[in-house]
Amino acid sequence: MTKGKQLYEGKAKKVYATETPDECIVSYKDDATAFNGLKKGTIRGKGTINNRLTNYLMERLESEAGIPTHLIRELSDTDTLVRKVDIVPLEVIVRNVVAGSLAKRVGKEEGTPLARPILEFCYKDDGLGDPMVNDYHILAMGWADEKTLETIKDYAFRIDDYLIAFFKEIGIDLIDFKLEFGITSDGRLVLADEISPDTCRFWDSVTKEKLDKDRFRRDLGDVEGAYKEVLERVFGERR
Ligand code: TMP
Ligand code: ASP
Repeated sequence: MTKGKQLYEGKAKKVYATETPDECIVSYKDDATAFNGLKKGTIRGKGTINNRLTNYLMERLESEAGIPTHLIRELSDTDTLVRKVDIVPLEVIVRNVVAGSLAKRVGKEEGTPLARPILEFCYKDDGLGDPMVNDYHILAMGWADEKTLETIKDYAFRIDDYLIAFFKEIGIDLIDFKLEFGITSDGRLVLADEISPDTCRFWDSVTKEKLDKDRFRRDLGDVEGAYKEVLERVFGERR
C-alpha cells in the first residue's frame, strides 16, 4: 500500500489517497495546536503515540464493544490504512466529569462529578470556532439524518462505558473526550478520526495529574512525558 496524492492536511494529521478508491492513509504529525490554531507547537513523539493508541483502542472497541470503525490496519509508527469516509460535520463530545469549556459555561469547578454523562455536539467549522449545536440544528441543517443521529448517540455512550472501564484498570479517570464519525462509500456509519491524549482528558486516578493535551494548552510542562505515560500504561504495566 503506497501513499498517493495528499487529499487533506489537518492540524494533527494528513490524509493520502491509495491505489484503492475507498481506502486512504492517515499520517499522524507531531504538530499540536490549541484555541482554534492560535497556539502552535510540537509535541515530540506525539504522532507515533496517537497513531498506536488510536488503533489499539479502535480494535478493542470493534471486538469488545461492537463499534464499527474506519480502521483497516496500521502501516507504520505514524501511518494507518483506513476506510475512506465522508465525515459527519460534528464533534461529538462525551463528558463524565466537569472540565474545560463546561466548567466555564456552568460556573462549576473542574473535577465536579456529574450524575450522568453529558453528550454535546459542535458543528465542525474552524471559521466559526466549532459552535455548539443541538439535535434540532443537526436535523434542520441536514448534517445527519435522524437514524444516523440516534446511532451516533448510541455508539457515543457505548464507547464511553467501554473506555471508562478500560482506563480505570490502568489508573486513569476518563474525564471527557471528542469523537468523529464518518459514512463509508457503502453507507455504513463508522467511528473515525482518533482517540488519544489530543482528544480526551485523562487524569491519574490517584493524583488527578493531567495526562493529556491540557498540559500543552495550559503550559503545564512535561507534555511529552504525559503522552508517553498514557502509552506505557495502555501497552505495558497493567495494574
Ligand atoms: P472542551 O472542554 O474544551 O470543550 O473539550 C472537550 C473535549 O473535547 C476534551 O476532551 C478535548 C476535546 N477537544 C478536541 O478533541 N478538539 C477540540 O478542538 C476541542 C476544543 C476539544
Ligand atoms: N486542536 C484544536 C485547535 O487547534 C483545539 C484543541 O484541541 O484545544 O483548535
